[in-house]
Amino acid sequence: MDRRKTLGEFRVNGERREVAYEPHRTLLEVLREDLGLTGTKHGCELGECGACTVLIDGTPVLSCLTLAQEVEDRPIETIEGMADKGELHPLQDFSAELGASQCGYCSAGFMLAAKALLAANPAPTRDEIRAALAGNLCRCTGYVKIFEAVELAAAKQRGEPCTPSRECTHGH
Ligand code: FES
Ligand code: FES
Repeated sequence: MDRRKTLGEFRVNGERREVAYEPHRTLLEVLREDLGLTGTKHGCELGECGACTVLIDGTPVLSCLTLAQEVEDRPIETIEGMADKGELHPLQDFSAELGASQCGYCSAGFMLAAKALLAANPAPTRDEIRAALAGNLCRCTGYVKIFEAVELAAAKQRGEPCTPSRECTHGH
């Protein structure tokens, strides 16, 4: 093994992954470059955009500001783990249906932050959604469709009607 590298084990999306990596690497670098999980996006690397958001122990974390070494052996969830047995998560489904994911660069971060919100608060208000996603920037959508996708996914998870309104799919 390259002597600059250390051997570590990460728990990513329910799987244990052993990897040799340079100890100064961020979690973002290890995920994308060492583990090949490129769904987590590389944006500002300054903690400003939220594109690199992943969940650690179910909590949103900026992987560009997290040393990989700090999170060895803690459960990490990336966008690659969001679908369940080939079935899209409601946040993914409604993002696609409403056009809440356009260039898609921000989408993984948004969806993981929203998943954490819905786990803590199954019926968030629009303001609560806006506050929970305030650290995730999107330059394409104007945010309204993202908020609507989160509201519809929340309704679906509660077992309530969740058909997008005509305004949702054709408006804004
Ligand atoms: S890449 Fe991490 S916050 Fe922008
Ligand atoms: S869909 Fe392009 S940055 Fe959000």
